[in-house]
Amino acid sequence: MHFHILTLFPDMVMSGLNTSIIGRAVKNDLLTIDAVNIRDFAFNKHQSVDDYPYGGGAGMLMQAEPVYLAYQSVAEKLSKKPRVVYLSPQGQTFSQQMAEEFAQEENLLLLCGHYEGIDERVLEEIVTDYVSIGDYVLTGGELPAMVMVDAIARMVPGVLHNDVSAEFESFQDNLLEYPQYSRPEEWHGKKVPPVLLSGHHANIEKWRREQSILRTWKNRPDLLEKAVLTEAEEEFLKKNQNNT
Ligand code: ADE
Repeated sequence: MHFHILTLFPDMVMSGLNTSIIGRAVKNDLLTIDAVNIRDFAFNKHQSVDDYPYGGGAGMLMQAEPVYLAYQSVAEKLSKKPRVVYLSPQGQTFSQQMAEEFAQEENLLLLCGHYEGIDERVLEEIVTDYVSIGDYVLTGGELPAMVMVDAIARMVPGVLHNDVSAEFESFQDNLLEYPQYSRPEEWHGKKVPPVLLSGHHANIEKWRREQSILRTWKNRPDLLEKAVLTEAEEEFLKKNQNNT
């Protein structure tokens, strides 16, 4: 999979994404991440890419032409028109389901705005998807683009060394993850739940699933409504929801 990030701050994006698991995936040629500097496509001698909005108002806008030229520099090398995501608080809220869907693309362009936004005309011409990472306003689209790349890239086969973990994690079945413990068996007087030391795999699986259900009920009841529980699990939840 190839990510192309159109941005005024390529170093910010590349330094964030060249580390840890995503950095390793790039080194292993499972994905490529290119940052395209929109400023390289400025068409005046001052290399400026922003201007005042018509009609007045606060702040500056990114102009249409540099954004369009930056887009074209990527699109002209591809055999089909790519999906282009504009990161904006006005977009649809990003979700695990969207990450899975975007992970099917061979190429994905992410357009990061700055200042007060981007001239509407170029958005109309190139953008296919408007995505927000949540109901708050950031200073630019770079952090949201990095969030998207991280969530999408980990769905690409081979990026997480053990492919099962992408499948079984939070949200996959609308349940949050169960609590986990490592050595030592006792820390600050707190003991690891005995079932986890029992070596009895079926009991461990059952306990984990029940913990996931309880946690989701407590922290994200909205998610639990979408989860599919067995009758026995419904019963378990009824019995235990008041002792958490
Ligand atoms: N740009 C500024 N704020 C944003 C947000 N919440 N999501 C996506 N892009 C943004």
